Amino acid sequence: MGMIVRYPRIDFSKIRAHWAPNIAFAQFQNATSIIPAPVEPWLIKVLNQAIDRLPAGSEKMREDVAAFIGQESQHFRQHQKFNKVIAAQGYERLPAFEKQLADDLDGFLKNRSLKFMLAYADGFEALGAVQGGIWFERMDALIEGADPNAVMLWKWHMAEEFEHREVCFQIFHRLYSRSLWGKIWNGYFYRVYGCLYAMAHLRGYMGRMFAYMVEQDKQGMTEDEKAAFDRDIKALNRFQGRVFFPQLLKNLLPWYNPGRKPVPPGLFDYLRQFEKPEPLAA
Ligand SMILES: [Fe+2]
Ligand SMILES: [Fe+2]
Repeated sequence: MGMIVRYPRIDFSKIRAHWAPNIAFAQFQNATSIIPAPVEPWLIKVLNQAIDRLPAGSEKMREDVAAFIGQESQHFRQHQKFNKVIAAQGYERLPAFEKQLADDLDGFLKNRSLKFMLAYADGFEALGAVQGGIWFERMDALIEGADPNAVMLWKWHMAEEFEHREVCFQIFHRLYSRSLWGKIWNGYFYRVYGCLYAMAHLRGYMGRMFAYMVEQDKQGMTEDEKAAFDRDIKALNRFQGRVFFPQLLKNLLPWYNPGRKPVPPGLFDYLRQFEKPEPLAA
């Protein structure tokens, strides 16, 4: 795979909370952006625990985990910058949601098994892999006329999520589904449990944060503006119901393997702009 860490230069200073023409879409992404700020540093801790338990002969996997950690540590830093800019525009409660999620994850580190945390991590990563496909194949209408810096944050992040989509899945299988029983019980049922757990847990946060942001916005709106906002929310819900959820359901299939997901056209070409040119061979 040969994954690398990329360093995009994104100008967050001028991003408005309503950075896309469909403001419900922009606000939903703004709520979603809170998630990686605590989850990705936590993922790094979990993978550092997992790497110690890898059997001999897992060199390739160790390399992939190192690249994964490098990518995630850039992601959450960029989202923290973005989140600060958004929260300052009248959404003071967002950091409290973030803190609460960070506390939940801390609780997992103290009270739950590594197996649970890796299954949860794989569920989180599955959300990113699905989003990677959607940002490159289905999002054009929603991002037309949107702020290019906000779009860059998401496209860069979701493309790298797509790129490293297999890492948590593979490490979970390497550690927990080597026997036949492990393949059936852990490799399927436990993995699906972790996946559903992560999705419900994180969707819960996204939903509450989104509802809060909508409430804040509506306070200053006229009746016409509120009606237009409600139409945007309906359009967003339709989009998610039609595009996002059917993709997620594939994760529940016994033969699901993120490595076999077809690469969305243009995804790696897009990432190339953030890569340093190859140094000339001496
Ligand atoms: Fe990430
Ligand atoms: Fe990731």
